[in-house]
Order: sequence, then structure tokens, then C-alpha cells
Amino acid sequence: MSECAVICGLGTCLPERIVTNEDLAASLDTSDEWIRTRTGIHRRRMVAPGTSTSDLAVSAGQAALVSGGQIADFVLLATTTPDRPCPATAPEVAHRLGLDEVPAVDVAAVCSGFVYALGLAEALVRAGACHQPLVIGAEVYTSIIDPQDRNTAVIFGDGAGAMLLRRGHREEPGAIRAVELGSAGAGSGLITVAAGGSRIPGHAQEVPREQRYFRMEGPEVYRQAVVRMTSSTRSVLDRVGWSPSTVQAFIGHQANQRILNSVADRLGIDARYRFGNIAEVGNTAAASIPLALADAAASGRIRPGSRTVLTAFGGGLTWGSAAVTWPDVVPKCLPPESPPAFRSSRVDRQADAVPTDPAPR
Ligand code: UT7
Repeated sequence: MSECAVICGLGTCLPERIVTNEDLAASLDTSDEWIRTRTGIHRRRMVAPGTSTSDLAVSAGQAALVSGGQIADFVLLATTTPDRPCPATAPEVAHRLGLDEVPAVDVAAVCSGFVYALGLAEALVRAGACHQPLVIGAEVYTSIIDPQDRNTAVIFGDGAGAMLLRRGHREEPGAIRAVELGSAGAGSGLITVAAGGSRIPGHAQEVPREQRYFRMEGPEVYRQAVVRMTSSTRSVLDRVGWSPSTVQAFIGHQANQRILNSVADRLGIDARYRFGNIAEVGNTAAASIPLALADAAASGRIRPGSRTVLTAFGGGLTWGSAAVTWPDVVPKCLPPESPPAFRSSRVDRQADAVPTDPAPR
């Protein structure tokens, strides 16, 4: 039996605050009817002021560790909204999870981030580079959304989901049977936060509003999302030899209910096996797949052994799909962690003292 990565834990974290379509329509030129019919979203969650991506990531990660009953030896954090441009957020998340000194890295693939991180983690396990990677997708999209932009402000929400993997065998429930990833950088201008990097530094004087916030060319992204998620799902199913009619759980990135319906219709996935939670949480970017999976698993709609296919599409442009057999896991959910107490750089230097070699005798 050949070795592969196996899913053994699933955790989530959603902020408490629920924002309905009506709430948004009170300050934006939109309506509950438009949002529901064009996107399928009824409400979304938003963090309290001061809560960052790492706070959600730590809780979701902790929940996955509890669900899996094991510790992790690698942390991959998929996010579009890191706590800051530098350093990466994953090492801090690992530290707050009590996983000091394990490798920890951010994965930046926007809404495809979770599937990308899953693919990387699965390859690391197969290569023997780690045994139990923790894959987290966490977003505070409200930190980059322009509240005055009705094209995007009605779509996105905050949240986090995490999956613990372990080394196992292809034939057991939970096995990640195949992952396929892709990108098309020619479309990089379709989904952007233009400022804050080396091209347009965040400290540049008078950065226009358009460049400070998230912007998306909705209709073209819609078209590409349907085409790419359909072809990527077909490729991954071909690789494992599953026909779409035998798929027992289809979980697409929760971008737009119309996109998800279109992809599943084109593939011929039975309507009984399409799962999602976009109505309740909106589009949570890199967190959307583990959040939707946890909902479906908690309600018993995905059963151990179910042929499950995950597919995502997002900025970059990027896309990816994974074929897995569903494991016997009970998802756990935790509320957001409190932000760590403020630490000055001087205190950091003392508290984070590097272990020293023993003094020579
Ligand atoms: O997660 C990463 C990947 N993201 C996606 O895959 C999202 C892809 N795109 C979409 O989901 C859709 O394109 C949107 C939901 C963003 C927009 O839906 P649409 O059906 O493509 O609408 P549209 O942008 O073509 O706009 C249609 C009309 C326009 O008005 P006119 O020009 O026809 O008068 C818009 O100004 O709807 C208007 N509109 C709105 N009206 C009320 C756009 N946003 C809103 C709004 N409320 N929030």
C-alpha cells in the first residue's frame, strides 16, 4: 500500500458578529434581494475591532488539533489578509499553538490558498519532510474590503478553518488521493489590493483609495471561475479514476452560489451531493473550503469513506482541486482567541531570547 497524507482533524473559528444583507443595505446602495439572488449570500460574520487573522487562525488550528488528538510538526497558513506584510503570520500562529520551532510559513494564493496549502502539505508528507502538518485557512477580509464598494462589500466575510494531516495509506478513509494546482498570472489584475507591496509601497504618499482596498472585476472573474473550477475538478477526478457521477461530496470555494451551481451542473454532480454554507458565512476566501467541509461533516451529510472533491479559484489567478476519501473525524469549533498582550520590541528581545549553547567547561 502506498503512503500518502490522511486527514485526521478538522477545526473552525467564526467571529460572533453576524451582519445581514439588510444591515449592509442600510449604508450601501444594495438590497437583500440583489445579494441573495446574485450571490446566494444571506449573512456573513465579521470580526470585532482589534481581532486579526492570527486570532482566528490560532482558534481554528487549536480546534483541529483537538479534533485530531495529535500535535503538528509543520504549519501552513493560507491567507490573503496576514496580520502584517512582514513577517509572515504562520510563525506567530505556531508559537501561540505551543508549536515553537516547527517550520511555519504563509501561503498566498488568495481564495485558492487552502487547496494550495493542502497540496503542499500532502507533498511534504509524501516526501518525508514532515509527519503531521497543520493546514489553516484564515481571513479577516473586512480589513481589506472597501465598505463603500458594493461590488465587493456584500460578498466577503471573516472566518478560519484548519485541517490536521498525518502520514497514512491511500486506501484508508481520509486519504488525499490527488491534488492538482494551476495559475494564470495574465489575469493578475482581475483581483487586487494594488498598494502595500514593492510596486506601490503602502507608505507612498497619497495612495488613491482604489489602490488601498480590495478590487475585483466581478463578471470576468465569474466567467474564469466557472471554466477553471470545472476543468480542474475534471483533471483531479481523471487522475483518481472517479467519474463525476460517483462523487458523494462536492465542495467548491464558496465564491457565489451561481458559480457553484454552474460548475456542478457542467460536471454532472448529483444535486444531493453538493455542499456549502455560502448563505450563512459568505465568501471567506482561503477559509471557505474547510468551513464548508466542517458544516457538512458536522451535520452528517459527508460520511466516512465518501468520495469527496474540493475545488477552488481565486486571485492570481490561481485554482486547485483535491480528491479525498472522507475521514472519520468530528469537527471542533472554537471562538476567536484574544489578541496577545502588546509586547514592545525591547520586551520581545528579552522574552524571545534564543536558547544558548551550554557554556564550555
Ligand atoms: O472568491 C474569489 C473569486 N471570486 C468570485 O469568483 C466572484 C465572481 N464574481 C461574482 O460573483 C459576480 O460577478 C458578482 C457577485 C461580484 C457580481 O454579480 P454580477 O451578476 O456579475 O453583477 P455585475 O457586476 O454584472 O453587475 C450587474 C448590475 C450592475 O448594474 P447595471 O450596470 O446593470 O445597472 C451593477 O452596478 O448590478 C449592479 N450591482 C449591484 N446592485 C446592487 C453590482 N453590485 C451590486 C450590489 N447591489 N451589491
